[in-house]
Amino acid sequence: MNRLILLLLAGTSVALARQTAPQFPTLPPPALPTGFTAPTGYGDSIYPLLGDAGLDVTHYDLSITSDPRQDAIAGRAVLSVTALRDLGQISLDFAGPKVLGVKLGGEAVRHAQVGEKLLILPSTPVAAGTAFTLTVAYAGTPALHLDPSESDGLRLGWITQAGGSYVLSEPDGAHTYFPCNDVPADGASYSLHLDIPAGYTAVASGVQTRQVTASGRTRTDFELTQPIPSYALTVHVGKLDLETQAGPVGIQIRNAFPVGLPATIKATFAQTPAMLGFLAGWFGPYPYPVYGVAVTADPEIPALETATLSTFPSSQEAPTTALHELAHQWFGDSLRLGDWSDIWLNEGFATYAELLWAQSRGQNTAPLLERWYARLARDPARGLIATRSKQLFDSSSYLRGALALHALRLSIGDEKFRQILSQYASRFAGKSVRTADFLGVARQIGGQNALDAMQPWLVGPALPPFPKDILMQTVR
Ligand code: ARG
Ligand code: ZN
Repeated sequence: MNRLILLLLAGTSVALARQTAPQFPTLPPPALPTGFTAPTGYGDSIYPLLGDAGLDVTHYDLSITSDPRQDAIAGRAVLSVTALRDLGQISLDFAGPKVLGVKLGGEAVRHAQVGEKLLILPSTPVAAGTAFTLTVAYAGTPALHLDPSESDGLRLGWITQAGGSYVLSEPDGAHTYFPCNDVPADGASYSLHLDIPAGYTAVASGVQTRQVTASGRTRTDFELTQPIPSYALTVHVGKLDLETQAGPVGIQIRNAFPVGLPATIKATFAQTPAMLGFLAGWFGPYPYPVYGVAVTADPEIPALETATLSTFPSSQEAPTTALHELAHQWFGDSLRLGDWSDIWLNEGFATYAELLWAQSRGQNTAPLLERWYARLARDPARGLIATRSKQLFDSSSYLRGALALHALRLSIGDEKFRQILSQYASRFAGKSVRTADFLGVARQIGGQNALDAMQPWLVGPALPPFPKDILMQTVR
């Protein structure tokens, strides 16, 4: 398979993305400008061409100038990078806005935008181990980018509509609005500088550090010092009401709601302080100094665990989903995926948190477990390690993943189960994880017994029988 052709197709139109018949042979590969070579990607097992295995981006300093009445944005991204091998060429993921210039350190360098890649040619190769900065200036309209993991054309990235802009990136929308190493394995910290028309409000992942309004513009800065995956970064700009809640143990809670959002929807999020305290009891300390939710004007988007500020549709009525996104702050954002195939480490854990919460509220969770199992029995069965993009957000990642954790818990009891979750969360906070990392902690604390209990759920593909004792777990 010609990787270049695949890469370039990835950058073409929506119409193409929606077609089912393979169109590869009909498009000639656009020629690369002289001196540039086809990038090879990070090598993720689901999205091999995303990212660049030669780069470790440790920090992004992003300045974004926008107006929620217009699609176009202007940006300046300063990336702090360490070369993991000798780099004759550097490739970043980037779609859409036109790049106006690239500097490596202080020196202007050649670049080319090819498909969804920004290719950069250092004047002399960067030696492995070197730390350097890349500065990219750009302006224009972020690409209309559709979710590769869904068949129904969910738009991802920087989205401007109904007088507001928001960011929804999982799995690969981040590179619509800033150039990045767009793989979750490469986490980074962020500084954000958002410049918007006065009268609008900007909120984003991280702690707000500064806000200045002058000459009809408001500039707001945010800092996130913990590393997160690029898809977990969010920005919301619009006519927003900011509300604060008192949080437990020094955690600041701020929520952003579009002006006029019904009180019934806001009420969905009333339990955040209790949920934070509850989950910390199972997972250990909440990973960030701040949390909250940003509700968009769009009723149809899926909720997403954007770091320190989860994103929701305007139709969000189930507090369970609020709990789910909060649980992802530990499992997904703080502990990030080392490879997309391990997505159950995100979705299975956040889904299982829903059951823990329901139990703590005194609910009988047997019907929930039965519903999960019935759904899995209807869907195609597979082991927990995903092999294709369309599997990322399927019932196996969520429900089979959750049942694998339930099987583990039943085999070793609540106290050891709690120890496994909290030790896994603290040992890998701010790091990338693979399934083997979790199993290592499970074995250390739960012994071989623990691994044996998970094995049939993990490996598959057949769905293990519904264990009778799965329902006998007593409500705590
Ligand atoms: N991670 C999100 C959740 O909390 C789901 C995102 C769905 N994304 C998608 N591309 N379909 O479950
Ligand atoms: Zn989830």
